[in-house]
Amino acid sequence: MKEKIANILNDFREEISSVNSLEEVEAIRIAYQGKKGHLKTILKDMGKLSNEEKPVIGKLANEVRDEIDSTLSRKVKEIKNLKMQKKLESEYIDITLPGKRQTFGAIHPTSKIIKRLIDIFYRMGFELTDGPEIESVYNNFDALNAPKSHPSRDKSDTFYFDDKTILRTHTSPIQVRTMMKSKPPIRTISIGRCFRNDEFDSTHSPMFYQMEGLVVAEGITMANLKSTLDTFARELFGEETKTIFRPHNFPFTEPSAEVDVTCFKCKGEGCKFCSHTGYIEILGCGMIHPNVLKECGIDSEKYTGFAFGMGIDRITMMKYEIEDIRRLYENDIKFLEKFRR
Ligand code: DAH
Repeated sequence: MKEKIANILNDFREEISSVNSLEEVEAIRIAYQGKKGHLKTILKDMGKLSNEEKPVIGKLANEVRDEIDSTLSRKVKEIKNLKMQKKLESEYIDITLPGKRQTFGAIHPTSKIIKRLIDIFYRMGFELTDGPEIESVYNNFDALNAPKSHPSRDKSDTFYFDDKTILRTHTSPIQVRTMMKSKPPIRTISIGRCFRNDEFDSTHSPMFYQMEGLVVAEGITMANLKSTLDTFARELFGEETKTIFRPHNFPFTEPSAEVDVTCFKCKGEGCKFCSHTGYIEILGCGMIHPNVLKECGIDSEKYTGFAFGMGIDRITMMKYEIEDIRRLYENDIKFLEKFRR
């Protein structure tokens, strides 16, 4: 009997070693461990054994059964692992492959300049204020001391919704709004779109950007205006930049001036960018007219102030050497690509 049991074990070992599917394992399990399996069949004859032999054979039979059991379950595990490994291999994705390059957008040159302007004036203590693009004739012209006959009021120059409402022609009405709702000291800049009924050509656009500056406090003089704008020009165009203040006329300032800066290209020598003058005009400015202060509810005996307004498109064109304002509004990717940095 001992021998028979040993043979069963040997046969089992041999059979199981060449098996590689779960179905085959199951068939072997039934053949050896099932109700009618080899081991059970042999053990039926246990009764015929002597009392000494019984425990010995019983022990041996148990050992063989345990070995068969553990071998079977090990085999099942092995086959399952192998299956899983094969599945993983077949579904393998190489995540180390280089990805597809993403193309990111770039900041528009005008937005870059706007950010730069805000940076410069923030550092000089200016706050940012805002106003609507649809404005009243009162804020855009009347409160700014513009005579009724001023040519810019003309319907051929300005977009009117009705007699009282227009698309603002400059950012100066934000001055009016700011002064009406706050008390001096005031130190603000405002940036936004303005609209004029101009032909779209290389130097004009019916929609364009302006930046307005406003300072109102006790004892503000033309010297403050000049030093503020000189500092600004040096910050934006470089340390060596010089300014010229040329007398001018605006209804909302007295005295008024236009400011030119040394040409960024020829540094004052004279070139085609500056029409051979060495200078380029960048803004209008002046001391706020007492009529404007009064209209906005500010005591013009106690307070003085200055204001300035500049065309952002023009400055962007200068900084980036763009010769046609239309480029800034066409959204031509090829053109904008150049401003990635
Ligand atoms: N608003 C003027 C324009 O559009 C620019 C300007 C000139 C603004 C003088 C000012 C200023 O604040 O003081 O041409």
